[in-house]
Amino acid sequence: MAKAIRATQIELDSAVQALRDGDVVAFPTETVYGLGANAQHASALQKIYTLKGRPTTHPLIVHLDSARFLHRWAREVPTAAQRLAERFWPGPLTLVLPKADGVLDLVTGGQDSIALRVPAHPMAQQLLTAFGGGIAAPSANRYGHVSATRAEHVREEFGVAVRVVLDGGECKVGLESTIVACLDGSVRLLRPGAITLSQLREAVGEVHSGAVADSPRTPGSTRAHYAPSTPLRLVAEGQFEREVALLAAAGQRIGVLAQRPPLGSYPHVTWINGGSRPDAYGHDLYAHLRTLDHAGASCLLVQEVPRDERWDAIRDRLTRAAAATLDSETGEMP
Ligand code: TXA
Ligand code: MG
Repeated sequence: MAKAIRATQIELDSAVQALRDGDVVAFPTETVYGLGANAQHASALQKIYTLKGRPTTHPLIVHLDSARFLHRWAREVPTAAQRLAERFWPGPLTLVLPKADGVLDLVTGGQDSIALRVPAHPMAQQLLTAFGGGIAAPSANRYGHVSATRAEHVREEFGVAVRVVLDGGECKVGLESTIVACLDGSVRLLRPGAITLSQLREAVGEVHSGAVADSPRTPGSTRAHYAPSTPLRLVAEGQFEREVALLAAAGQRIGVLAQRPPLGSYPHVTWINGGSRPDAYGHDLYAHLRTLDHAGASCLLVQEVPRDERWDAIRDRLTRAAAATLDSETGEMP
């Protein structure tokens, strides 16, 4: 039976109590699971950084149940941001806006901006409404790891260190939210997600793409991120099958994430067909990377994805995962 996507009253009460007590709570959103804390509670926020092993200079997203209290968190909501909020909230969109007075530095990483999101997942909505305040939540994974799209992935990441994990089943989108900064009169896409650049442009007109030197910091934007622990390499479609065949013939145990079934049969190869539809591929991407990471392979080969904007978010995460391999080979930290 599919997991219920609403929490029971008992689950909800214990999650809200934990937040009030300054504890962290993992909860589902339609993108990925979040590791949440009361956004107005400094020591609770500190727990997030400690648990994730994340530097405190990497800011957090504050989740709200609706846009009604946006002004408590943002001192200004430009027209473009209002339009985006009306069009895409609740949903997989994060807006970066000028922060209101009183927002803790542990939320913003000491920057003058704040990231805000209204998630659509019914259980996230229940939690936010019952708690009544902002919940700061990064993705519920250790720093640099693959994000969690199922409750058991959260447990895999944190074990008993995170006592309350609300289980809302599999995340519908499976990739982190689209992040858009509305600052200084311009609109800029900072992180691609399920909402594409064309959809953003359709809603507000001009949208710049990619971080610039003075863009606010975007944690996922460090080059190496979203990585399994097995080395991962992206291979172009044209060379893909040959590369797999060569490694398999050499007796290597490898993991493969492709967009189609294999043409031949290879010993020692765990082949996952992620399919050719970006929505379904994105939905399962992190679960597939986790499966492959557990397959005992010495390396993971991932077939490059199409150059089509519907694949932008997937390409972004895969490129970062591959970069993590390169960085670890050169001894750099992610
Ligand atoms: O889908 C998501 O966004 C998930 C769910 C749980 O909401 N959260 C997530 O959080 O992916 P995290 O911490 O793993 O990634 C945080 C993102 C960064 O990529 C960064 O762009 C953005 O939040 N961020 C937070 N505060 C920011 C700020 N003041 N300026 C720019 N970016 C900020
Ligand atoms: Mg993350």
